[in-house]
Amino acid sequence: MTTPRLPAEFRLVEMDSVDSTNAEAKRLACAGAADGTIVWAQRQTAGRGRRGRTWTSEPGNLYASFVLRPGCAPMQAAQLTFVAALAVRDLLSIYLNNSDSIACKWPNDVLVEGRKISGILLETSTSGSGVVDWLGLGIGVNLRHHPDIGGRHPATNLCAEGAGEVDASSALENLAIEFAKRRTEWLQGGFASVREAWLKHAYGLGRTAHIKLENASHSGTFMGIDESGALRLEADGGAERQFAAGEVTFERSD
Ligand code: BTN
Repeated sequence: MTTPRLPAEFRLVEMDSVDSTNAEAKRLACAGAADGTIVWAQRQTAGRGRRGRTWTSEPGNLYASFVLRPGCAPMQAAQLTFVAALAVRDLLSIYLNNSDSIACKWPNDVLVEGRKISGILLETSTSGSGVVDWLGLGIGVNLRHHPDIGGRHPATNLCAEGAGEVDASSALENLAIEFAKRRTEWLQGGFASVREAWLKHAYGLGRTAHIKLENASHSGTFMGIDESGALRLEADGGAERQFAAGEVTFERSD
């Protein structure tokens, strides 16, 4: 596998196999790794998904975690998941003819034709001062294979969507380039500009959505995200509620 050429702000830690690139990013961050360190592995033996799920991680797909030190409060740092989702969408647009089919699903999935092709896992550590000390932004992109997860939003991979064989090295190279651009946009324009871009590509706007919380679930029309990135759901009577976290599924549009 060729080594990707990354923009100057990144340093690569390349591994054949690791438990989880997020776990390695955490170890390196705790040992003082600089902002812009990227951990990239060909395979993970204990890949992690959100909510304690396993992320299937055989060779062929992209598994990478960015160590970032944004120097801001956790609320702002969480906005980087939207930045990353847009960067993944930009990456996929390079390889797929129909970029309209690529959408960002709240809070941090990327879908092609409604099928999940990428997931993002953000882990942070905050110091006593209330500023994020380090953040591990883990990104998995299905390039050549995907697990059979079924459900309302089944999985897919880039090759199955007609992009041909894309190797993880060139995918990471392009992801780093796109992430650098989107991060600059965030630094200069704040979350307002990221939110605007994200809403242009949001999956399920105006559709009925169900959100599952720890002990409850709610349904309503998906109205987008607010200024903090929270999901906006409008109930039948017109009342709106915002949700900062949760598991979302959408009714079929047909
Ligand atoms: C999700 O959709 O549940 C998030 C999946 C995140 C997977 C990536 S793969 C690279 C990084 N290392 C991990 O262990 N997880 C993330």
